[in-house]
Amino acid sequence: MSAATWIDLPDRSDERGGLVFIEGCRQIPFGIERVYYLYDTRDGIARGGHAHKELEQLLVAVSGRLDVVLDDGIARQRYSLCTPTRGLYVPPMTWRELECFAPGTVCLVLASRYYDESDYIRDYDAFLETTRARA
Ligand code: TYD
Repeated sequence: MSAATWIDLPDRSDERGGLVFIEGCRQIPFGIERVYYLYDTRDGIARGGHAHKELEQLLVAVSGRLDVVLDDGIARQRYSLCTPTRGLYVPPMTWRELECFAPGTVCLVLASRYYDESDYIRDYDAFLETTRARA
């Protein structure tokens, strides 16, 4: 896996509890245009199952844990998100599956662009064709 990477986030936790902050174009390599979160995930389900042409994202398990499987068209790698102090940067043209959500997990997603369905690639064969065409 080439450009996907862990990003350690500034942790200002003290005796009162935890505090982590994230600033666009500082701790992460993109400006933040959209924020969403996954929560109340049903047992045994998977989310994702798509890639984005241009969108960059940072995924953080702010509570609980989940696995993220990333595939850049060449290699597939599993990441275990289990701490609010570390995020997973997901570059464009990366197929992702989100699975193994522990009960009560909240996954925060910071995104570089507004929601745009035309940026999605939802068919895996089309994803592979696009990655090969761009190589
Ligand atoms: P989707 O991205 O397919 O979810 P996941 O990757 O977690 O399985 O989005 C599910 C639905 O929500 C789909 O109809 C698009 C819509 N949606 C928005 O309208 N805005 C958003 O910012 C996101 C992430 C999804």
